[in-house]
Amino acid sequence: MLLMSKPVILTGLRANNDLHIGNYLGALLPMVDMAHKHAGEYQINLFVPDLHSFTTPIDHSQLQNQILQNIKVFAAAGLDIANDNIHIYRQSYVPAHSELAWILDCFAGFGEVSRMTQFKDKSAKLGDDRISVGLFNYPVLMAADILLYDATYVPVGDDQTQHLEFTRDIAGRMNAKFGELFVVPKPVKEQHEFFGKDQGLRIRDLIDPTKKMSKSDETGRGVIFLSDSLEDAKKKIMGATTDSLGKVNYDYDQQPGVSNLLDILKLLGGNSDEFIGLEQYGPLKTAVAEKVASFLTAFQSNLAGVNEQQLIAKLESSESVMNEQANKTLYKVQQAVGLRPKA
Ligand code: TRP
Repeated sequence: MLLMSKPVILTGLRANNDLHIGNYLGALLPMVDMAHKHAGEYQINLFVPDLHSFTTPIDHSQLQNQILQNIKVFAAAGLDIANDNIHIYRQSYVPAHSELAWILDCFAGFGEVSRMTQFKDKSAKLGDDRISVGLFNYPVLMAADILLYDATYVPVGDDQTQHLEFTRDIAGRMNAKFGELFVVPKPVKEQHEFFGKDQGLRIRDLIDPTKKMSKSDETGRGVIFLSDSLEDAKKKIMGATTDSLGKVNYDYDQQPGVSNLLDILKLLGGNSDEFIGLEQYGPLKTAVAEKVASFLTAFQSNLAGVNEQQLIAKLESSESVMNEQANKTLYKVQQAVGLRPKA
């Protein structure tokens, strides 16, 4: 098999326990669509960054289950497991990630890594002795994730663009020192041009539609979780905050609640136009509640129906190809730094 004969698009499948429809419509679905759109012309690498998952403290008794659950959620969202151009793998099953991270560590500056805002934000929330070296090292491992496969396109959220820039820096630095070792991923601006910057679509909280839907909402009343019962979900939609203007308009400044409902309806395949101009909100809410209920029914049954055996077989076959590709890059690096004889 030809190794890395196509340009590579790579990203981490980060999912947490309480995914909500904001995550689904704003992140999961766009990722699945992206993979389907480009598979064939590109090699698509989607992986679970399991080694990154305990850079801050977690409950380790849950990790195994979560890793599989993450991937199942993507399968339930329609990700085409059978597509040979889409590789789905677990980071820790490809040991080259850890090995390259160590080598890159020795070329990463303490100062530059200290400036990473994610590290500063996350460490500010932990007590000093709970800030792990792994958390500090997070961006170096992420650079290894990307550089092992010569990835050119790496779709990430805004909170990760600094890590992508760091990856470009360290790749350029190693190339300058050792000759062409790594493919340098495209700059952030070109990433946005390639993927389109509409990932910014953010579903808002139903109770406070001025902020985005977020699992950290304490009451959960403004958030539709993918695991919600149909009754709960409907109740939450019917209880969504609107306004006193009394006319349906798509206008986030004046009517954020109503506009949010229109967006949810549209993203779930409903016709939002037919409600514009109506002088009551009830019919819109009922329509959204129905759509959300039928979406949840379908999603929950997809999730229950994911064939675990088939999924694990996919992971194992991807991991075998990925080990081959990653080890090839790792060996070149080991040669460059003098750990292995030059050919
Ligand atoms: N840090 C990414 C996130 O929080 C996940 C991730 C790990 C990743 N390694 C990566 C994303 C490499 C893209 C490329 O979302």
